Amino acid sequence: MARIIDGRAIAEGVYGQLRGEIAELKARGITPGLAVVLVGDDQASRAYVRSKDKMCRELGLHSVKLELPANTTQEELLARVDELNRDNAVHGILVQSPPPKQIDEAAIIRALDPGKDVDGFHPLNVAKLALGDDSGFVPCTPLGCQRLLVEARIDIDGAHVVVLGRSMIVGKPVALLLMQKARHANATVTVVHSRSRNLQEITRSADIIIAGIGQAHFVKAGHVRDGAVVIDVGINRVDDASVPRGSRLVGDVAFDEVAQKASAITPVPGGVGPMTIAMLMANTVKACRQAAR
Ligand code: GUN
Repeated sequence: MARIIDGRAIAEGVYGQLRGEIAELKARGITPGLAVVLVGDDQASRAYVRSKDKMCRELGLHSVKLELPANTTQEELLARVDELNRDNAVHGILVQSPPPKQIDEAAIIRALDPGKDVDGFHPLNVAKLALGDDSGFVPCTPLGCQRLLVEARIDIDGAHVVVLGRSMIVGKPVALLLMQKARHANATVTVVHSRSRNLQEITRSADIIIAGIGQAHFVKAGHVRDGAVVIDVGINRVDDASVPRGSRLVGDVAFDEVAQKASAITPVPGGVGPMTIAMLMANTVKACRQAAR
Protein backbone atom coordinates (compact mmCIF):
# COMPACT_ATOMS: atom_id res chain seq x y z
CA MET A 1 0.00 0.00 0.00
CA ALA A 2 1.36 3.40 -1.05
CA ARG A 3 2.38 6.17 1.27
CA ILE A 4 -0.22 8.97 1.04
CA ILE A 5 1.31 12.38 0.24
CA ASP A 6 -0.65 14.83 2.39
CA GLY A 7 -1.08 18.04 0.37
CA ARG A 8 -2.91 19.83 3.18
CA ALA A 9 -0.04 19.28 5.64
CA ILE A 10 2.59 20.30 3.07
CA ALA A 11 0.58 23.42 2.18
CA GLU A 12 0.50 24.34 5.89
CA GLY A 13 4.30 24.20 5.89
CA VAL A 14 4.37 26.58 2.91
CA TYR A 15 2.03 28.98 4.73
CA GLY A 16 4.32 28.91 7.76
CA GLN A 17 7.21 30.15 5.57
CA LEU A 18 5.03 32.69 3.78
CA ARG A 19 3.81 34.20 7.05
CA GLY A 20 7.42 35.04 7.89
CA GLU A 21 8.01 36.69 4.49
CA ILE A 22 4.71 38.61 4.73
CA ALA A 23 5.64 39.86 8.21
CA GLU A 24 8.97 41.17 6.87
CA LEU A 25 7.22 43.01 4.02
CA LYS A 26 4.66 44.48 6.43
CA ALA A 27 7.48 45.67 8.67
CA ARG A 28 8.61 47.70 5.64
CA GLY A 29 5.08 49.08 5.24
CA ILE A 30 4.17 46.84 2.28
CA THR A 31 1.15 44.50 2.16
CA PRO A 32 1.08 42.01 -0.73
CA GLY A 33 -2.19 42.26 -2.66
CA LEU A 34 -3.98 39.78 -4.92
CA ALA A 35 -6.91 40.49 -7.23
CA VAL A 36 -9.04 37.57 -8.40
CA VAL A 37 -11.43 38.22 -11.27
CA LEU A 38 -14.36 35.93 -11.94
CA VAL A 39 -16.61 36.43 -14.95
CA GLY A 40 -19.93 34.58 -14.83
CA ASP A 41 -21.40 32.21 -12.29
CA ASP A 42 -19.78 28.82 -12.87
CA GLN A 43 -20.22 27.06 -9.52
CA ALA A 44 -16.80 25.37 -9.42
CA SER A 45 -15.06 28.63 -10.33
CA ARG A 46 -17.00 30.51 -7.63
CA ALA A 47 -15.85 27.96 -5.07
CA TYR A 48 -12.19 28.35 -6.16
CA VAL A 49 -12.40 32.14 -6.04
CA ARG A 50 -13.94 32.03 -2.56
CA SER A 51 -11.17 29.80 -1.23
CA LYS A 52 -8.46 32.04 -2.74
CA ASP A 53 -10.05 35.12 -1.15
CA LYS A 54 -10.34 33.32 2.21
CA MET A 55 -6.70 32.28 2.15
CA CYS A 56 -5.59 35.87 1.39
CA ARG A 57 -7.47 37.04 4.48
CA GLU A 58 -6.00 34.30 6.66
CA LEU A 59 -2.50 35.36 5.64
CA GLY A 60 -3.23 39.07 6.03
CA LEU A 61 -2.89 39.85 2.33
CA HIS A 62 -4.83 42.62 0.64
CA SER A 63 -7.53 40.83 -1.36
CA VAL A 64 -9.65 42.20 -4.20
CA LYS A 65 -12.44 39.94 -5.43
CA LEU A 66 -14.09 41.13 -8.66
CA GLU A 67 -17.21 39.22 -9.62
CA LEU A 68 -18.44 40.34 -13.03
CA PRO A 69 -21.69 39.27 -14.73
CA ALA A 70 -21.72 36.46 -17.31
CA ASN A 71 -22.51 38.97 -20.10
CA THR A 72 -19.41 41.13 -19.43
CA THR A 73 -17.87 42.24 -22.73
CA GLN A 74 -14.25 41.91 -23.79
CA GLU A 75 -13.85 45.72 -23.60
CA GLU A 76 -15.24 45.87 -20.06
CA LEU A 77 -12.97 43.08 -18.88
CA LEU A 78 -9.92 44.69 -20.55
CA ALA A 79 -10.78 47.96 -18.78
CA ARG A 80 -10.89 46.19 -15.39
CA VAL A 81 -7.58 44.44 -16.08
CA ASP A 82 -6.07 47.81 -16.99
CA GLU A 83 -7.27 49.31 -13.69
CA LEU A 84 -5.74 46.44 -11.75
CA ASN A 85 -2.48 46.74 -13.71
CA ARG A 86 -2.25 50.37 -12.54
CA ASP A 87 -3.35 49.72 -8.93
CA ASN A 88 -0.22 49.88 -6.74
CA ALA A 89 -1.93 47.95 -3.92
CA VAL A 90 -2.39 44.95 -6.24
CA HIS A 91 0.73 42.87 -6.90
CA GLY A 92 -0.92 39.79 -8.39
CA ILE A 93 -3.88 39.41 -10.77
CA LEU A 94 -5.68 36.19 -11.61
CA VAL A 95 -8.53 35.94 -14.10
CA GLN A 96 -10.35 32.70 -13.37
CA SER A 97 -10.41 30.27 -16.28
CA PRO A 98 -12.49 29.37 -18.23
CA PRO A 99 -14.29 32.67 -18.97
CA PRO A 100 -17.64 32.84 -20.84
CA LYS A 101 -17.44 32.25 -24.58
CA GLN A 102 -17.66 35.92 -25.70
CA ILE A 103 -14.31 36.51 -23.97
CA ASP A 104 -11.04 36.05 -25.89
CA GLU A 105 -9.02 34.59 -23.02
CA ALA A 106 -5.65 34.78 -24.79
CA ALA A 107 -6.11 38.52 -25.39
CA ILE A 108 -7.01 39.05 -21.72
CA ILE A 109 -3.87 37.20 -20.63
CA ARG A 110 -1.73 39.29 -23.01
CA ALA A 111 -3.22 42.44 -21.46
CA LEU A 112 -2.02 41.50 -17.95
CA ASP A 113 1.09 43.21 -16.62
CA PRO A 114 3.52 40.23 -16.82
CA GLY A 115 4.96 41.31 -13.45
CA LYS A 116 1.51 40.77 -11.89
CA ASP A 117 0.68 37.56 -13.78
CA VAL A 118 0.79 35.22 -10.76
CA ASP A 119 -0.85 32.46 -12.87
CA GLY A 120 2.20 32.40 -15.15
CA PHE A 121 0.00 32.37 -18.26
CA HIS A 122 1.35 35.50 -20.02
CA PRO A 123 3.56 34.71 -23.07
CA LEU A 124 6.52 36.45 -21.38
CA ASN A 125 6.23 34.16 -18.35
CA VAL A 126 5.79 31.06 -20.54
CA ALA A 127 8.98 32.11 -22.36
CA LYS A 128 10.86 32.66 -19.10
CA LEU A 129 9.91 29.17 -17.92
CA ALA A 130 11.16 27.70 -21.21
CA LEU A 131 14.35 29.78 -20.91
CA GLY A 132 14.94 28.83 -17.27
CA ASP A 133 14.77 32.49 -16.17
CA ASP A 134 13.52 32.35 -12.59
CA SER A 135 12.41 36.01 -12.50
CA GLY A 136 9.17 34.90 -14.19
CA PHE A 137 6.05 33.27 -12.75
CA VAL A 138 5.46 29.53 -13.06
CA PRO A 139 1.82 28.32 -13.11
CA CYS A 140 0.60 27.38 -9.64
CA THR A 141 -0.45 23.77 -10.21
CA PRO A 142 2.90 22.70 -11.74
CA LEU A 143 4.75 24.50 -8.94
CA GLY A 144 2.55 22.70 -6.42
CA CYS A 145 3.34 19.30 -8.00
CA GLN A 146 7.09 20.01 -7.82
CA ARG A 147 6.86 21.21 -4.22
CA LEU A 148 4.87 18.10 -3.20
CA LEU A 149 7.58 15.86 -4.66
CA VAL A 150 10.35 17.84 -2.97
CA GLU A 151 8.66 17.92 0.45
CA ALA A 152 7.81 14.19 0.19
CA ARG A 153 11.56 13.57 -0.44
CA ILE A 154 11.01 12.02 -3.86
CA ASP A 155 14.09 12.32 -6.05
CA ILE A 156 13.24 14.11 -9.31
CA ASP A 157 16.83 14.34 -10.59
CA GLY A 158 17.27 11.85 -13.45
CA ALA A 159 13.84 10.28 -12.87
CA HIS A 160 11.54 9.40 -15.77
CA VAL A 161 8.50 11.62 -15.30
CA VAL A 162 5.52 10.82 -17.51
CA VAL A 163 3.00 13.66 -17.73
CA LEU A 164 -0.51 12.80 -18.91
CA GLY A 165 -2.11 15.80 -20.61
CA ARG A 166 -0.72 18.77 -22.56
CA SER A 167 -2.74 21.73 -21.29
CA MET A 168 -1.24 25.19 -20.83
CA ILE A 169 -2.30 25.09 -17.13
CA VAL A 170 -0.76 21.72 -16.21
CA GLY A 171 0.85 19.42 -18.78
CA LYS A 172 3.10 21.75 -20.76
CA PRO A 173 4.35 23.88 -17.86
CA VAL A 174 4.97 20.92 -15.53
CA ALA A 175 7.01 19.26 -18.28
CA LEU A 176 9.07 22.44 -18.82
CA LEU A 177 9.53 22.89 -15.07
CA LEU A 178 10.72 19.37 -14.29
CA MET A 179 13.07 19.10 -17.29
CA GLN A 180 14.90 22.31 -16.34
CA LYS A 181 18.61 22.12 -15.67
CA ALA A 182 18.09 23.09 -12.06
CA ARG A 183 17.69 21.86 -8.52
CA HIS A 184 14.49 19.87 -7.92
CA ALA A 185 14.30 19.19 -11.67
CA ASN A 186 16.64 17.48 -14.21
CA ALA A 187 13.96 14.89 -14.97
CA THR A 188 13.63 12.88 -18.17
CA VAL A 189 10.16 14.02 -19.20
CA THR A 190 7.70 12.31 -21.53
CA VAL A 191 4.33 13.92 -22.27
CA VAL A 192 1.47 11.67 -23.36
CA HIS A 193 -2.04 12.76 -24.33
CA SER A 194 -5.32 11.64 -25.88
CA ARG A 195 -3.66 10.87 -29.23
CA SER A 196 -0.60 9.01 -27.94
CA ARG A 197 0.05 5.48 -29.18
CA ASN A 198 1.10 2.83 -26.66
CA LEU A 199 0.17 5.15 -23.81
CA GLN A 200 0.13 2.37 -21.22
CA GLU A 201 3.55 1.12 -22.29
CA ILE A 202 4.96 4.60 -21.74
CA THR A 203 3.31 5.24 -18.38
CA ARG A 204 4.55 1.85 -17.15
CA SER A 205 8.12 3.03 -17.62
CA ALA A 206 7.58 6.08 -15.38
CA ASP A 207 9.26 6.59 -12.03
CA ILE A 208 6.82 9.47 -11.47
CA ILE A 209 3.39 9.84 -13.12
CA ILE A 210 1.69 13.26 -13.18
CA ALA A 211 -1.93 12.85 -14.26
CA GLY A 212 -3.64 15.97 -15.61
CA ILE A 213 -5.78 14.57 -18.39
CA GLY A 214 -9.20 15.60 -17.05
CA GLN A 215 -10.91 12.20 -17.07
CA ALA A 216 -12.16 10.58 -13.89
CA HIS A 217 -10.20 7.44 -12.94
CA PHE A 218 -8.29 7.33 -16.25
CA VAL A 219 -5.06 5.98 -14.72
CA LYS A 220 -5.55 2.35 -13.70
CA ALA A 221 -3.25 -0.15 -11.99
CA GLY A 222 -2.22 -1.38 -15.45
CA HIS A 223 -0.67 2.03 -16.24
CA VAL A 224 1.63 1.96 -13.22
CA ARG A 225 4.75 -0.05 -12.44
CA ASP A 226 5.35 -1.34 -8.91
CA GLY A 227 6.89 1.38 -6.76
CA ALA A 228 6.11 4.36 -8.99
CA VAL A 229 5.06 7.72 -7.51
CA VAL A 230 1.68 9.04 -8.67
CA ILE A 231 0.63 12.71 -8.55
CA ASP A 232 -3.06 13.21 -9.35
CA VAL A 233 -3.94 16.69 -10.66
CA GLY A 234 -7.49 15.78 -11.70
CA ILE A 235 -10.62 17.27 -10.18
CA ASN A 236 -13.68 15.58 -11.69
CA ARG A 237 -17.21 15.64 -10.33
CA VAL A 238 -18.91 12.24 -10.63
CA ASP A 239 -22.42 11.13 -9.66
CA ASP A 240 -22.63 9.16 -6.43
CA ALA A 241 -26.11 8.33 -5.15
CA SER A 242 -24.66 7.10 -1.84
CA VAL A 243 -23.69 10.60 -0.66
CA PRO A 244 -26.12 13.40 0.34
CA ARG A 245 -24.97 15.82 -2.43
CA GLY A 246 -25.45 13.14 -5.07
CA SER A 247 -21.94 13.70 -6.43
CA ARG A 248 -18.32 13.78 -5.27
CA LEU A 249 -14.90 14.87 -6.50
CA VAL A 250 -12.47 12.28 -7.83
CA GLY A 251 -9.09 12.53 -9.51
CA ASP A 252 -7.72 11.28 -12.83
CA VAL A 253 -6.35 8.21 -10.99
CA ALA A 254 -8.30 5.14 -9.89
CA PHE A 255 -6.96 5.66 -6.39
CA ASP A 256 -7.84 2.37 -4.69
CA GLU A 257 -6.24 0.07 -7.28
CA VAL A 258 -3.27 2.33 -8.09
CA ALA A 259 -2.44 2.76 -4.38
CA GLN A 260 -1.84 -1.01 -4.26
CA LYS A 261 1.08 -0.64 -6.70
CA ALA A 262 2.49 2.85 -6.18
CA SER A 263 5.08 3.65 -3.52
CA ALA A 264 3.53 7.09 -2.92
CA ILE A 265 0.35 8.76 -4.17
CA THR A 266 -1.59 11.99 -3.72
CA PRO A 267 -5.29 11.79 -2.75
CA VAL A 268 -8.15 13.83 -4.27
CA PRO A 269 -9.18 15.93 -2.47
CA GLY A 270 -6.27 16.84 -0.20
CA GLY A 271 -3.34 16.40 -2.59
CA VAL A 272 -2.46 18.85 -5.36
CA GLY A 273 -5.50 21.11 -4.77
CA PRO A 274 -4.33 22.71 -1.50
CA MET A 275 -0.85 23.14 -3.00
CA THR A 276 -2.17 25.10 -6.00
CA ILE A 277 -3.63 27.76 -3.70
CA ALA A 278 -0.47 27.79 -1.57
CA MET A 279 1.64 28.41 -4.69
CA LEU A 280 -0.70 31.22 -5.77
CA MET A 281 -0.04 32.90 -2.42
CA ALA A 282 3.70 32.27 -2.85
CA ASN A 283 3.66 33.81 -6.34
CA THR A 284 1.77 36.84 -4.98
CA VAL A 285 4.42 37.37 -2.30
CA LYS A 286 7.13 36.98 -4.98
CA ALA A 287 5.39 39.58 -7.19
CA CYS A 288 5.20 41.95 -4.24
CA ARG A 289 8.88 41.50 -3.36
CA GLN A 290 9.89 42.12 -6.99
CA ALA A 291 7.71 45.25 -7.17
CA ALA A 292 9.14 46.55 -3.88
CA ARG A 293 12.76 46.39 -5.04
N1 GUN B 1 -8.91 27.41 -13.57
C1 GUN B 1 -8.45 26.19 -13.16
N2 GUN B 1 -7.19 26.30 -12.69
C2 GUN B 1 -6.84 27.60 -12.80
C3 GUN B 1 -5.67 28.34 -12.48
O1 GUN B 1 -4.66 27.81 -12.00
N3 GUN B 1 -5.72 29.67 -12.75
C4 GUN B 1 -6.80 30.27 -13.29
N4 GUN B 1 -6.74 31.58 -13.53
N5 GUN B 1 -7.90 29.62 -13.62
C5 GUN B 1 -7.92 28.29 -13.36
